[in-house]
Amino acid sequence: MAQTLVRELKIPMPPTFESVEAERLHRKQRLAAAFRMFSKCGFDEGVAGHITARDPEKLDHFWVNPFGMHFGQIRVSDLILINHHGEVVEGDYEVNRAAFAIHSQVHQARPDAIAAAHAHSLYGKTWSSLGRLLDPLTQDEQVMARAIFTSKAAPCLKCHMTGDAGHDAKASAPNFLLARERLKPEWTKRWVVDPQLISPGTSMPSGLFNRDAEHDRFVVNGVDLPAFKTYEKDHVSLLVRYMFQITADEQKRLGAAGSSGATAAPAAAGAPAKTASLQDQRQQARRRHEPNIAAIRTP
Ligand code: HEC
Repeated sequence: MAQTLVRELKIPMPPTFESVEAERLHRKQRLAAAFRMFSKCGFDEGVAGHITARDPEKLDHFWVNPFGMHFGQIRVSDLILINHHGEVVEGDYEVNRAAFAIHSQVHQARPDAIAAAHAHSLYGKTWSSLGRLLDPLTQDEQVMARAIFTSKAAPCLKCHMTGDAGHDAKASAPNFLLARERLKPEWTKRWVVDPQLISPGTSMPSGLFNRDAEHDRFVVNGVDLPAFKTYEKDHVSLLVRYMFQITADEQKRLGAAGSSGATAAPAAAGAPAKTASLQDQRQQARRRHEPNIAAIRTP
């Protein structure tokens, strides 16, 4: 005989608690477990790195790991409670001052955040030592950046040196190959949008990009390319990413594309122009653009 089995199925929901003590214990258990997980994943290093959890009752207090204890050994009973002055108000251990300095700011700035974690992990540190902060370009982005660089409307290579002797004889601006060593990406974005604001009278024109308030970004003015129609990101930051990754070969390719609007002319027959080495260009850029460097270095 067929029997119908009626079962009530559940959807996972955040836990609810009878008391603040129960909620506190739950948080501390997750916090201790998180330290064990960090240890297992190799995210710990010596006494560095912390995870904090806000207390459910005293909202300006947070629980944190004791100073000097291995992440892999932390139990709920080892956790310490820190107040907003950085004093240990519960627990028997010292607190690491760095934990308080960093995490108290995060908890204060983001009342909606219950927990914060920061690690000194091997791979994270290795990556950051490379100083590579910019996203790689997709193939579509490269096509768009090349179009801007060689456009009539915003001809970046027109005034900037490229290492081509004929072109550079008339070029007045630094080679983009030097961007990585001379410039900071955030400064460069501001410069490209409005060079006249930073250096009044510079021959680099402002107004190459328009503000698109709807998408909170800048878009290039007067470069029409199908790829831009579906692209919703900031054109200036795209250009800066491209500029910081540009290679000598890429510049040659752009020059060879012939649409750079550059003043590039073949060197006069019989009198081959001397191509300035990158070293020379570097020194030249330094001499000519000293004020720019000062602007970049000042935070
Ligand atoms: C009409 C000439 C001209 C055009 C076009 C031009 N620039 Fe420039 N640019 C300059 C000059 C000149 C400087 C040097 C700043 C100064 O001292 O006036 C400069 C400086 C810069 C700098 C700072 C370089 C450094 O190492 O100090 C960046 C970055 C830059 N330009 C990006 C661009 C981009 C991107 C484009 C295209 C969207 C572009 N420029 C188009 C003339 C130009």
